[in-house]
Amino acid sequence: MKVLWFLLPLILWSEENITESFISDYEYGEMLYNSPRGVSCAECHGTSGKGKTIIKYQDIHGEEEIKGSDIRKKSLSEMINAVNSYHKIMPRYYLSDDEVKTMYEYLQKKNEVYLNSSK
Ligand code: HEC
Repeated sequence: MKVLWFLLPLILWSEENITESFISDYEYGEMLYNSPRGVSCAECHGTSGKGKTIIKYQDIHGEEEIKGSDIRKKSLSEMINAVNSYHKIMPRYYLSDDEVKTMYEYLQKKNEVYLNSSK
């Protein structure tokens, strides 16, 4: 029994570490990017921020399409501005700067190879 008491702090310490790493910043960023308050960035900017066709339609000029832009090279401040302002298509979000930063870092990490190769 004495031995167990001795081990207790160690057990508590390791459990704390497990819960801390349960969700990483990367995963949190991914979660935010994919469902910020209901309207996912991924729906318009693609899962990696590369951009995506939102809708295609026909009009008198022929086939038209509305696209979500490539945001992989946007800076953190451009991202904060974009999220906090009104656009024609993109909704305005109510996300904290920290939340945008987490999404920004997630995209940076996810596109590491692309961003390094096109510097
Ligand atoms: C309904 C589609 C849609 C959604 C959802 C959306 N966007 Fe956009 N976004 C656009 C379009 C389209 C543009 C191009 C500018 C415009 O006309 O609105 C854009 C522009 C941007 C830009 C570039 C602004 C600039 O400086 O040129 C950034 C950064 C961006 N979006 C980030 C995001 C993030 C982050 C999210 C999620 C929190 C998001 N967008 C959700 C459609 C969308």
